[in-house]
Amino acid sequence: MNRDSTNAHTHLEQQVEELLDDLSLREKLGQCVMIEPCFCLEERNSEEFGDDFSSVMDPEYLEMLLVDYNIGSFLFGGASRIGDGSPVAWADYIARVRKFAHNNTRHKIPMLFGIDAVHGLNFMKGSTIYTHNLAVTATWNPQLARQYAAMVGTELSSIGFNCNFAPTIDVARDTRWGRVYESLGEDPYLAAEISRALVEGMQGNGDLAACAKHFIGYGESNNGMDRTPADLSERGILENHAPPFEAAIEADVLTMMVSGGDVNGMPIPASKRMLTDLLRDRLKFKGATMSDWEDVERLYSRHKIVPDRKEAVVRSFNAGLDMNMAVSHIGAVDVMEEAVKDGSIPMQRLDQAVRNILLVKFKLGLFEEQPLDIQHAGDLVGSRQSRALAEQLALESITLLKNENQILPLDRDTKSILITGSSADSKRHLCGGWTLGWAGAEEDDLECKTILDAIREKVPSATVTYVSDIDELREQDLAKKDFDVCISVVSEEPHAEWYGDSMELGFEEPEEALLRAAIATGIPVVVVSVIGRPLNVSWLDDQVAAMLWAYLPGTEGAQPVADILFGEHNPCGRLPISFPRDASHVPVVYNARNYESDEINTRYDPLYSFGYGLSYTDFTYSKLKVPAEVKSGEEVEVTITVSNAGKVDGSEVVQLFLRDIFASVTRPLKSLKAFARVSLKAGESKTVSLTLTPHQLSLYDEDLKFVEEARPVEALIGDQVGEFRILG
Ligand code: GLC
Repeated sequence: MNRDSTNAHTHLEQQVEELLDDLSLREKLGQCVMIEPCFCLEERNSEEFGDDFSSVMDPEYLEMLLVDYNIGSFLFGGASRIGDGSPVAWADYIARVRKFAHNNTRHKIPMLFGIDAVHGLNFMKGSTIYTHNLAVTATWNPQLARQYAAMVGTELSSIGFNCNFAPTIDVARDTRWGRVYESLGEDPYLAAEISRALVEGMQGNGDLAACAKHFIGYGESNNGMDRTPADLSERGILENHAPPFEAAIEADVLTMMVSGGDVNGMPIPASKRMLTDLLRDRLKFKGATMSDWEDVERLYSRHKIVPDRKEAVVRSFNAGLDMNMAVSHIGAVDVMEEAVKDGSIPMQRLDQAVRNILLVKFKLGLFEEQPLDIQHAGDLVGSRQSRALAEQLALESITLLKNENQILPLDRDTKSILITGSSADSKRHLCGGWTLGWAGAEEDDLECKTILDAIREKVPSATVTYVSDIDELREQDLAKKDFDVCISVVSEEPHAEWYGDSMELGFEEPEEALLRAAIATGIPVVVVSVIGRPLNVSWLDDQVAAMLWAYLPGTEGAQPVADILFGEHNPCGRLPISFPRDASHVPVVYNARNYESDEINTRYDPLYSFGYGLSYTDFTYSKLKVPAEVKSGEEVEVTITVSNAGKVDGSEVVQLFLRDIFASVTRPLKSLKAFARVSLKAGESKTVSLTLTPHQLSLYDEDLKFVEEARPVEALIGDQVGEFRILG
């Protein structure tokens, strides 16, 4: 931090201390409780309550929340809607609440307004819905990820929000988990690079707090299910789950949401080891932590580690939590007041929590906040720029998994195409969960092209026959129609969180039946998957001609699918996660502590590997150069020549892995340590240079000290291997 920023930081800290000294106990407590105003409405408990949230504007209601309870943060869940749900309605509401707080509270402390804009302004009709984070990671393009996050951040703050419960930066090491599509995949290094980019992008304007979530180990529960217990070694947490959080902290992420899960017998919100010893003392997080939705309450109602709600609050705040996302439990303030008064929560701990929260608000400049430009709040939402960015993000993520006999790209003058699958003509299946509602959108609430639309536009002279289900397929007189190709679009019902958990990683019954019927026609089948995570596609792998994974590509995702199918773009996505051969094979990750052994069954043997992805051209590697040795503290430059040996231009991701020939502890079979995306014209070669820093050459020794241990290692890129020695 340079002198100016150090002084500025000190000045902010002084302002925080001055304000803190003036606050009453109730004013301090209100800063630590985050309320969902629509959920807190008394009427919600009445039978006839529909979804009229209009009384969130009532002055008496705001008086209760902001003056009686001094609430300092609002969040909005997927089911909430302000007014007609338009950008102007949201901006107008937030402006009114800001004004009410300014005019009616003693210290006029600005509020945090938080929401889940996790793939665009996904809570708002007419907004651009981007692809989800697993696909952002599949682009291996941190620069594009940064631009995307900056665009979403600008759109979100233009309607008054100053806190986004994003990015989700969990590492997912079990594909049965219902939130794999929201994660950054299985590799900690790639996840860290994307995490850093997303936080830098989202906080770039300085008027929005990103929220790194969900600290920590959320993507590796014992049975792969959402929010179920995890037993993780300290090594596993540090090596596999900490890196994206470390990167977010280096990017000065202002807030962090903690997972509600039980890790090693202790739910994170009550874990001092995690919230203080690891997050604050070891990882040096300086921002404000918040619980996830009602997770303090769940210490009592679910985890049963405390006898009552008061103890739940005591345990979580004494563990180091700063904000309780209490949602509708406004009484959490009273419970906390009792705990502070009787000494269960020391005043010093409360002060530290309030200090962390106020520092975020000062850093965001909320105390000098400019008035919201309500009439223009919607100008950015769904803009041409955001749609173009969303299309580029989807395009660079789409991963070609199979392409037998180069059936793809299809010829632009293909005569007769059969398209199967209801999601071929669906908008909601392109967007998945967290879209205009927690578990996904209603079809009519979205305005965008479907894959069927985009294909028809792409090949207007072709005869395109669309069948949405197996009955319609059976009605086709296949003999007469002589189809050149069958494009089978497969999907899953949009879902969120535990609703997406899958024990068997199978397709939904109608999807699989239709797919098998399409294969049985004998027409060459090209599968287009708009499923957000790796399912078991082993049975498909040798029965279809090609497989293209589009993830959940969003409202702008249909066009890139058609562009790739017909060769306008060469697919360049690379897998951020392994495809297991079947559910019994899970967890299968490329960087497990494995051995190349002919005896024991530790071999990494997925259907498709981490980092894999085909192109319409061929890339070859040669002339890998590494130094013979590297001294402690020095960087290593690795160079390689990449060639495009095919007939079309393409973009390759050069992936540098490190393999320990031996070390003082067992090591992953290999670990990604650097990557670079490179574009090559047909026949072109380029020499790419990648750097390994001392950090990337270090490991956690048996005592979990992070050391640059002397040892021989190999650098691996493609089929090239270069050995060198770390002198340590
Ligand atoms: C949910 C999710 C979390 C989200 C929060 C607020 O339960 O776990 O990712 O940010 O609630 O909506």
